[in-house]
Amino acid sequence: MADKIQNAYHDSKNIYDDVLTQKSIFSRLYIKLFWSGTDDNLIAKKVLDYISDDFTGKLLDVPVGTAVFTHKKWSSLKNAEIICLDYSRDMIEQAQKRLADSPQVSCLQGDVGDLPLENESMDIVLSMNGFHAFPDKKKAFKETYRVLKPGGKFIACFYIKGESKITDWLVKAILSKKGWFTPPFPTRIQLKKY
Ligand SMILES: C[S@@+](CC[C@H](N)C(=O)[O-])C[C@H]1O[C@@H](n2cnc3c(N)ncnc32)[C@H](O)[C@@H]1O
Repeated sequence: MADKIQNAYHDSKNIYDDVLTQKSIFSRLYIKLFWSGTDDNLIAKKVLDYISDDFTGKLLDVPVGTAVFTHKKWSSLKNAEIICLDYSRDMIEQAQKRLADSPQVSCLQGDVGDLPLENESMDIVLSMNGFHAFPDKKKAFKETYRVLKPGGKFIACFYIKGESKITDWLVKAILSKKGWFTPPFPTRIQLKKY
């Protein structure tokens, strides 16, 4: 499983940012056809708006990916302490390059299921587009909860099953087989029960 994820993100390292930010016409077509036109740029903005522009505490961004959506905000939070973690060496390398001039940010290669962080040490845990990729979702929830301070903020967005037939087909037939996504995926109703 671990190698499958490394390989999947290795193979997509040169197109990842383009697809997610819909830079090219092919990316826009792909998103329109398979993701009902969902704009990840807007979702990322909405998610990041939960973090104030003068935030000064400790924040974990997991998985950071290439930091394509987060690097500007993290660079601007000069008085915060930010840890970015991702399992894929190819992705974290790109994040590291983007954040090289921000001493308040550390980038680590690692597993969300075994975070190298102390209990109750984070004010905010951000998990953007992560839970559908994590192989062991229970461990990921347990670990992100463990490192969060009491009263800390957990901010997340991820794929939910059952909202669009063509998206569910793509996720099952291609994205999960390749390793970009890892089942099981909760539905909206299942999530509300947690
Ligand atoms: C869809 S990307 C999201 C990255 C970024 N948050 C974004 O929105 O662009 C999913 C990421 O999850 C990472 N990932 C998968 N399994 C992981 C694990 N066990 N621990 C940490 N990161 C993991 C992958 O390497 C990949 O970079």
